[in-house]
Amino acid sequence: KRHLISAADLTRDDAVLILDTAEEMARVADRPIKKLPTLRGRTVVNLFFEDSTRTRISFEAAAKRLSADVINFSAKGSSVSKGESLKDTALTLEAMGADAVVIRHHASGAPYRLANSGWIDGAVVNAGDGTHEHPTQALLDAFTLRRRLVGRDEGLGRDLDGRRITIVGDILHSRVARSNVHLLTTLGAHVTLVAPPTLVPVGVGAWPCEVGYDLDDVLPKSDAVMMLRVQRERMNAAFFPTEREYSRRYGLDGDRMARMPEHAVVMHPGPMNRGMEITAEVADSDRCTAVEQVANGVSIRMAVLYLLLGGAEPAAAATHARTE
Ligand code: CP
Repeated sequence: KRHLISAADLTRDDAVLILDTAEEMARVADRPIKKLPTLRGRTVVNLFFEDSTRTRISFEAAAKRLSADVINFSAKGSSVSKGESLKDTALTLEAMGADAVVIRHHASGAPYRLANSGWIDGAVVNAGDGTHEHPTQALLDAFTLRRRLVGRDEGLGRDLDGRRITIVGDILHSRVARSNVHLLTTLGAHVTLVAPPTLVPVGVGAWPCEVGYDLDDVLPKSDAVMMLRVQRERMNAAFFPTEREYSRRYGLDGDRMARMPEHAVVMHPGPMNRGMEITAEVADSDRCTAVEQVANGVSIRMAVLYLLLGGAEPAAAATHARTE
């Protein structure tokens, strides 16, 4: 049985296969009728214990474009608020016949628990667990980077060898940063983290990346700069950086963006704190890929669901088949 729990579990070939399959899926989105019959009769459950806009909507769009039935479960308004456990919630979903469970949870490790518990038979996809990992976000980021830095057609079958990616901000609380460090280095990129010393995780020395503290120094050497949201909801209020101090040292504004090479792009996984880690001028500029990342997320999640649930035939065969 296959699951997608951690970007660290993916080999280079796994990751390139997912990116190439997502390119096939993106061709479906370009058609007038954006639907394939591939997962007809399968059920995908979106099990969200934490808030989400992009991830939940794009998993739903991805499953529907593959003709799966979709059940959306949000902990708010469910029996979780009456104290129901993850186990009993999972057993309920199993009784509904879930073929895949896409889970977002505030506890790091919850998707592992679900995948290894025997409570459910279906594939488990991690849609973000605590401060641990968010593998489909890293995949959609890698997809966006490959398109922008290598090319849409030229990128097929290729990785991000030698590309220099800088990830800036609240690394400590960021599952996006952790998944990206694993995935981008697996794909051959050089990753540099830039953050206030208080927002760098203990043990970062064992991560396959460099750590810097001077954003202005790193910007001219970056092919892409990924800005992270400051996650106040995961911080002790006593350790909040002030908005002014944070944006002065670690925020990306128009002047800083001008220090980047001309070809370099600005990324943000969303949601953004405009005025804190990124100014509106940068967020709304042509160099910022935030909206493109969201669109690419649907193709990546179609590829992941297709490969986990229906990938008996090559994606090209499935996407060239009759659409409906
Ligand atoms: N990037 C991301 O995970 O966004 P959501 O929290 O809106 O899903």
